[in-house]
Amino acid sequence: MRNLLTLADLTSAEIERIFSITEDLKNKYQKGLREPLLPGRMMVLVFEKPSLRTRVSFEAGMVHLGGSSMFLGTDAGFGRRESVADFARVLGEYADVVVIRANRHQTAVDMAKYCSCSVINGLTDFGHPCQALADLYTIGELVGNLSGHTLAWIGDANNVARSLAVGCGKLGLRLAMATPKGYQFDEKSLAWIRQQAPKLDLFVTTDPAEAVRDAVAIYTDVWASMGQESERDVRRQAFAAYQVNAELMSRAQRGAFFMHCLPARRGEEVTDEVIDGPQSVVIQQAANRMHVQKGILAWMLGREGAKG
Ligand code: CP
Ligand code: NVA
Repeated sequence: MRNLLTLADLTSAEIERIFSITEDLKNKYQKGLREPLLPGRMMVLVFEKPSLRTRVSFEAGMVHLGGSSMFLGTDAGFGRRESVADFARVLGEYADVVVIRANRHQTAVDMAKYCSCSVINGLTDFGHPCQALADLYTIGELVGNLSGHTLAWIGDANNVARSLAVGCGKLGLRLAMATPKGYQFDEKSLAWIRQQAPKLDLFVTTDPAEAVRDAVAIYTDVWASMGQESERDVRRQAFAAYQVNAELMSRAQRGAFFMHCLPARRGEEVTDEVIDGPQSVVIQQAANRMHVQKGILAWMLGREGAKG
């Protein structure tokens, strides 16, 4: 039985294997074929925060694979009506896999600790591993072999950035991050990333132009993540010079791609011109959430994942 709480839970070879299953399933899906690899399997989503992409892409993906899904929002009383441990113990009796979106990463860790079925992190304050896998798969579709390329991250060193950092290290993509002082990875995060992805080639700067210089793709995310709404005004000031706009895109490699996990705050971290422009691959990224999660589910609930 396997969990996916962070990308530390997967080896490079396992990520490659998931991508290969993904490619096969995506090709079949585009030809109208939906291979029922997981008939009778039950996925339960337990979400403490809003979601469009993660929720719908997981649910749609499970339907394509012949399984079923159920969504539980905050009305299920998770952690309030009963303890996380009791909730998890009971859920494990009904489900084959739980996808959890939690305010605090520790809640997802506790879910995995007490639940007898597989648990997947569908975003916490610490990480967003399914997003990072879909992003790395997307870059692979665009450029082929990832190794030797640079991904530029412009903005907050947040949950998505942390997962991408480990993923880049595992797959040989260089990561150049431009983040204002005070919002960069702290020592604890850096030590964790280095431990999980010792081969990561990480370049950190406060200058966005320097980070994008050699980049094949430029990625940004909101300046205030879910749970940080009260910091929005302060962050808007701190990140004002970190907007991805046409001027910054012109400093990157010719034809560099623009990436964003979405939802975006247009006019803040990215301009309409860039996110709607020809270099933007944000819809391909969002589409790949579903394909890669099908790869994860098929790998995790099939015979291969069971070996781990
Ligand atoms: N990118 C992403 O996880 O989107 P949602 O918050 O809509 O799920
Ligand atoms: N960093 C963002 C990602 C949303 C998908 C957040 O946590 O709100």
